[in-house]
Amino acid sequence: MNTTIKQAKQHLNEEVTIGAWLTNKRSSGKIAFLQLRDGTGFMQGVVVKNNVSEEVFQLAKDITQETSLYVTGEITEDYRSDLGYEMQVKSIEVIAEAHDYPITPKDHGTEFLMDHRHLWLRSKKQHAVMKIRNEIIRATYEFFNDNDFTKIDPPILTASAPEGTSELFHTKYFDEDAFLSQSGQLYMEAAAMAHGRVFSFGPTFRAEKSKTRRHLIEFWMIEPEMAFCNHQQSLEIQEQYVAHVVQSVLKNCKLDLKALDRDTTNLEKVTTPFPRITYDDAVEFLKEQGFDDIEWGEDFGAPHETAIANHYDLPVFITNYPTKIKPFYMQPNPDNEDTVLCADLIAPEGYGEIIGGSERINDLSLLEQRIDEHQLDAESYSYYLDLRRYGSVPHSGFGLGLERTVAWLTGVEHVRETSPFPRLLNRLYP
Ligand code: 4AD
Ligand code: MG
Repeated sequence: MNTTIKQAKQHLNEEVTIGAWLTNKRSSGKIAFLQLRDGTGFMQGVVVKNNVSEEVFQLAKDITQETSLYVTGEITEDYRSDLGYEMQVKSIEVIAEAHDYPITPKDHGTEFLMDHRHLWLRSKKQHAVMKIRNEIIRATYEFFNDNDFTKIDPPILTASAPEGTSELFHTKYFDEDAFLSQSGQLYMEAAAMAHGRVFSFGPTFRAEKSKTRRHLIEFWMIEPEMAFCNHQQSLEIQEQYVAHVVQSVLKNCKLDLKALDRDTTNLEKVTTPFPRITYDDAVEFLKEQGFDDIEWGEDFGAPHETAIANHYDLPVFITNYPTKIKPFYMQPNPDNEDTVLCADLIAPEGYGEIIGGSERINDLSLLEQRIDEHQLDAESYSYYLDLRRYGSVPHSGFGLGLERTVAWLTGVEHVRETSPFPRLLNRLYP
């Protein structure tokens, strides 16, 4: 019977064969412990000298790290392992030997590991990070499908800049100029006028020369957009969505969180509603905390965000930023026209902004004025203006950065470990 490490629990006390790789081993004169992985999980295989042929025992002692194998044996309960079971190995068939595998159980430097990212992905922690990333994606589709959102895919090659022109990746589009998408938002606004509630999930690109633990050049964003939805209603959707994702990861990724030694105390507290603080109050709060460098009208940096986040156990919305530090499309705040109806959601534990969102300007002449003020080329936004020409409605939306969310939930320090093949300032390989 062929099975997998994950499915093996259905075969307790039965003999099965599993295709696997050897990650590590320990042996003495009488017994060998093989650490096996097969993509679905990590399991120990026990080879007892007296129970197998001399050849099999010798092979167990000689197999090298990352050699691929078929192992056959009985699945038995083992209370000491996280998995709850192990294999009493009877026979081993080598598929392909691996010699001098570069990533050994000793410590390696980050640059070395990043150069070997294609192999590093096999290690237990990196495997757990990708599993949690996958669960976030699964829970995202679940949440938006259950709430009557339609998935719409915006283009990657675009002619305009939604988030300001300084961070665009330029490319030629035959004889025209084109840019890799920074955000699908403007197209999602068009889609919301056709489908009401929509969401996208795709790669976005920022030619940002930032070398921080939160910035990638290429990252994946989930961008919901909702017609007939004001800013407050959008915040409610955002907190419900984030809480759903956190609860799904806690429920479905227990072994992965354990593999990462993630302390889940704070994650377990994540229930709605999330606290909200206005930008104005945040500036006052920071001044009280001794940040002399912050003035009203300036954007917050990572230390400011972390100070605000540390004040709460939950993710926190910072609302109503100054108009002049936000993109052109945000709806003015009727209570203070120097600010806009927007919010950034700051994750706890120093993981920074995971969502940026706002209500969108729905008045044609105001939007035209803003495009003008931001010195954008009105012609390339003509389709976007059409949305205000033909049955404009109040609408709001937001973008959640997948990798920053993975970093927060897994507890990894740097976003480079949250993407299978991260594109960084100085890294296009592998
Ligand atoms: O705040 P941002 O730039 O917002 C937008 O792009 C809006 N158009 C979204 C919308 O309203 N539809 O980006 C949204 C999120 C950030 O909160 C962050 O989580 C992530 O995208 N993000 C990055 N993640 C990794 N590396 C980068 N360089 C990122 N830039 C933004
Ligand atoms: Mg932002």
